[in-house]
Amino acid sequence: MEVVSNISLKAYNTFGIESTARHFVEVSSVEELQELLRLQEWKNTPKLILGGGSNLLFTAQYDGLIIKMNIRGIELVEENDEFIWVKVGAGENWHEFVMHCIEQGWGGVENLSLIPGTVGAAPMQNIGAYGVEIKDVFASLEAVKIDTVQRQTFSGEECQFGYRESVFKTIYKGQYIIASVTFRLSKHPEINTSYGAIEEVLTERLGEVGVKSASIREVSDAVIHIRQSKLPDPQEIGNAGSFFKNPVVPREQFETLQQQFDKVPGYPVSKNEVKVPAGWLIEQAGWKGKRFGNVGVHDRQALVLVNLGGAQGEEVKKLAYDIQQSVEEKFGILIQPEVNII
Ligand code: EPU
Repeated sequence: MEVVSNISLKAYNTFGIESTARHFVEVSSVEELQELLRLQEWKNTPKLILGGGSNLLFTAQYDGLIIKMNIRGIELVEENDEFIWVKVGAGENWHEFVMHCIEQGWGGVENLSLIPGTVGAAPMQNIGAYGVEIKDVFASLEAVKIDTVQRQTFSGEECQFGYRESVFKTIYKGQYIIASVTFRLSKHPEINTSYGAIEEVLTERLGEVGVKSASIREVSDAVIHIRQSKLPDPQEIGNAGSFFKNPVVPREQFETLQQQFDKVPGYPVSKNEVKVPAGWLIEQAGWKGKRFGNVGVHDRQALVLVNLGGAQGEEVKKLAYDIQQSVEEKFGILIQPEVNII
């Protein structure tokens, strides 16, 4: 474990933004992490935990210690006739883990194929796509409390998962470092094709009857196809996936919007609340495909902001702010970033 100083963060964030870290260290085991946290030298230094860097935007040099999580390993911890429990190191790449599950025939994460980032970051914001969220396959996680350096296990209930939310983003923000996550996966997978786009792709590929008996690999392939057709590959165009969260509005507000904009899409999330796709709001406000210097709004999914090359974090932040303002003016809805702005 070696702490290095003044290193470039360009390769460590999928936006591809040039920034520097005052101090940077990689940890490869939970013991190593605890050893680092016990060092008096770093006790009062601000810390940033880095996974795949796929959900953050650097707007300035980071004047603290960046801890890059490199804890690896996929370990089978329990099984019965129906399920298998696997404990996965926080530093494992999420998509590689999903591919491993598909090869082994373990079902539950196939809809979450191709999501950038690491396993340890996934529960932080309860990652989700195409009708599935990590909470659906979550068993428990192990985290280290930064101030006491104690290990602690969290059940799903204790994580208080919500839409792109958990206690690690709210009441315990900045207090814990996730070291591993245990998933409960199915040996006899039941596929979830409730999301329209998956059903469409599978029907095209397998026919209407075939959809019902699609394998987890076929579902994963369909998800990969959909994502590749809409979302820019961060290797080619810097981005952090959805920049904003989809806003949830009271039903009455949604009904008022429907009177003004008859095509406004919405998905009820409870009796009194409706989720509105931020991508639609942004597109209607005229931003889709727009470019401003080194930054822009993706032309196939307006929820994604892109670095067209050499962008500064501040430029992306300014664009996000302008979009936020214009959406609020047009629709009276304040959309909030999903990405962590540092
Ligand atoms: N839409 C538009 N214009 C756009 C984009 C979207 O009109 O430019 C409307 C359409 O009505 C479309 C609807 O929004 O039917 C939903 O779009 P999409 O299926 O692309 O999903 P999303 O709600 O925009 C969310 C997640 C994505 C996830 C997809 C699929 C959030 C913030 N984003 O996007 O997650 O892949 O659903 O489940 O919840 C991410 O978090 O980085 C991410 C990519």
